[in-house]
Amino acid sequence: MDVRRSRTLSTKRAGKTPAASRKPKTQAQKADRHDLYQRSVQVPEGDIAIFEQIFRSMGKRKPLRMREDFCGTAFLSTTWVRSDPKRHAVGIDLDGPTLEWGREHNLATLTPAQRKRIRLVQGDVLDGDDEPVDLICALNFSYCVFKTRALLRRYFETVRRGLADGGAFICELYGGTEAVVAIDDERRCKGFIYEWQQAEYNPITHDTLCHIHYRFPDGSRLDRAFTYDWRLWTIPELRELLTEAGFGKVEIWWEGVDEDGDGSGEYHPTEREENQESWLVYVVATR
Ligand SMILES: C[S@@+](CC[C@H](N)C(=O)[O-])C[C@H]1O[C@@H](n2cnc3c(N)ncnc32)[C@H](O)[C@@H]1O
Repeated sequence: MDVRRSRTLSTKRAGKTPAASRKPKTQAQKADRHDLYQRSVQVPEGDIAIFEQIFRSMGKRKPLRMREDFCGTAFLSTTWVRSDPKRHAVGIDLDGPTLEWGREHNLATLTPAQRKRIRLVQGDVLDGDDEPVDLICALNFSYCVFKTRALLRRYFETVRRGLADGGAFICELYGGTEAVVAIDDERRCKGFIYEWQQAEYNPITHDTLCHIHYRFPDGSRLDRAFTYDWRLWTIPELRELLTEAGFGKVEIWWEGVDEDGDGSGEYHPTEREENQESWLVYVVATR
């Protein structure tokens, strides 16, 4: 039996209104953490533009079939099938309730024809999927849940097997001098403040524990809306493991800077860069 429910029912029977239900809900109590995440972390149109730029500059045909590993609410997959009537997407995630949220809030916004071109799978990305695709992506560092070389290599082998001829795997990695210290960073979004907390970093294992919190104008907080227990991999480690998994070429796409020294949003493949306080790269592996 649901304990919270039975307590509410018995209070009602006694003719009392619980004090908590008399108070208006705070903004944090009313908020939906998946909605906040999509609005503060994800820019799927931007990701698709970068994927297209990478495919174009590698002389590859326009990618049509995409697999989004660790898809969460499938916001990217939904945007993908909407971006071109020939595009198909498969999203894989372990978490049933998160996928269900995505069906209700993202897939439900698609037309019936678009809806036919997207498939969500509740499963482990280590098991992959049978349909070969042009592009497999793993965004927002999700593969960092695999903390050993053996597991990460196994994941990369599964990815390689899932790619059609001419296909590519694209994942992101963050780093820089600020990536390896405990730090709190915040950013103003429309209607709330997004807080990224690197709570712990262990230089012996490269384990890092990070949280996302949200703060609202009425002073309320949604603490630890999301928590990530990751190994922060390095670029050469990813390269070596991708090569060991059978990929022929691994490129590192680095963000350029504009005249103010800020990230320009334009990425280019490179082999030598100065370290920065914080950087985010796309790692692009091809068969
Ligand atoms: C950081 S979220 C990524 C959400 C979204 N893809 C993005 O780019 O922001 C990580 C997701 O990975 C899922 N996940 C973690 N381990 C997984 C695994 N082994 N197989 C499939 N999904 C997994 C979690 O359920 C969670 O939804």
